[in-house]
Amino acid sequence: MEKHYHSGVEVTTDLIGGKWRAVVLAHLHHGLRRDAELRRRMPEVGELTLVQLLRELEVEGLVQRHEAAGHEVEFQLTEQGATLGPVLQAMDVWGQAHAARHGLEIQEPGRADTRRLAAASLARGDATGWFEKLYAEAGNGLAQVPWDRPEPTANLLSAGLPAGEGRRALVVGCGLGRDAEYLAGLGYATTAFDISETAIRTARERHPSSSVDYRTADLLAPPAEWRHAYDLVVESNNVQALPRDLRERATASVAGFVAAGGTLLVLAAAADKPSDDGPPWPLTRDEVEAFAADGLRAERVEQLEAVDDPLVVRWRATFRA
Ligand SMILES: C[S@@+](CC[C@H](N)C(=O)[O-])C[C@H]1O[C@@H](n2cnc3c(N)ncnc32)[C@H](O)[C@@H]1O
Repeated sequence: MEKHYHSGVEVTTDLIGGKWRAVVLAHLHHGLRRDAELRRRMPEVGELTLVQLLRELEVEGLVQRHEAAGHEVEFQLTEQGATLGPVLQAMDVWGQAHAARHGLEIQEPGRADTRRLAAASLARGDATGWFEKLYAEAGNGLAQVPWDRPEPTANLLSAGLPAGEGRRALVVGCGLGRDAEYLAGLGYATTAFDISETAIRTARERHPSSSVDYRTADLLAPPAEWRHAYDLVVESNNVQALPRDLRERATASVAGFVAAGGTLLVLAAAADKPSDDGPPWPLTRDEVEAFAADGLRAERVEQLEAVDDPLVVRWRATFRA
C-alpha cells in the first residue's frame, strides 16, 4: 500500500528516525568508515543489529559498502546520504548545547581520539605530533576530527569582517580548510597553513578548484615573509590546543602576521582561570588580551555563549594594527 505523508518531517523521520540510524549516519558523516570502528563507537548496539541496519541503509540508497585493504569492510555515505549532513549537524549541535545546559556527559569519540593521541604525544614531550596522527587516522576511517565541521562557526560568520577584495588573509591552523574557503569566498586572497601535512593534503583534495594557497607550516617557526604581511589574520582554536608553556610564543607569532592597518580575529574557548586539563586549554582574559602585541591594539573583546560549540563560553576578539 502506498504510504501517505503529511509533512516533510515525517519523511525524514521515516528514514533517520530510529535512534541508531541517525547515530550511524552521523559517524559516517564524520568520516568513520571501518566496520570494526563503527562497532567500537556504538558499544550498546549488537553486532547483528548493526549489520542489519547498515544493510537497510544501503538498500535505501543512503550508504554504500566496499572492501578495503585486508578484506576489511568499509562504509560511506552515498551522494544522497551526504545530503543529510546539515540535518545530522543540526541534531549534533542542538544535542551538545542541551547536554551542556543539563550537565549530561557526552563521551564524544572525536574528543576521545584527541585525548588519546594527545596524551601519548605530550608524554613524549612532543606538543604537536598528535595532530598529524589524528588527521592520518581520520583519513583511514579510524578516528574523528572533532573540529571537522561543515560550516564556519556562528561566531566567525557574524564577526563583521571587512570586505575581502584586494586584501590578503592568513588562516592559522586551517585544518581541513573550512574557514579558509569562507574567507576566499568573501574575496580575500587567502593563504592557510597547518602543521599537519595530511590536513593540508586533505584540504586541497576537498577543495580542488579552490583559490586558497594551502601550506604546511609551523606556527612556532613560520616563513619570515609572512611577518606583517596580512590584512586579516584568523586564529581559531589553535593557540588553545598548544600546551601553556608554548602560549606566549604562539600568541606572539600570530600577532606578528598582521600588516599595518590590518585586523586579527581570535576565536577561542574561554576560562576564568588556567587549568591543566587539556587539550584544549581554554584562554583566560589575560591570555586573549596578550594578542595586543607587536603594534596591535584590542578593538573588541567579547565573551559569548556559543550556540554551536560544546565548549560553551567563547572569546571573540578583534585587534587592529
Ligand atoms: C583544534 S584545531 C582547530 C582547527 C581550526 N582552526 C578550527 O577552528 O576548526 C588546531 C589546529 O591547529 C593545527 N596546529 C597545531 N599546532 C600547530 C602549529 N604549531 N602550527 C600550525 N598548525 C598547528 C592542528 O593541526 C589543527 O589543525
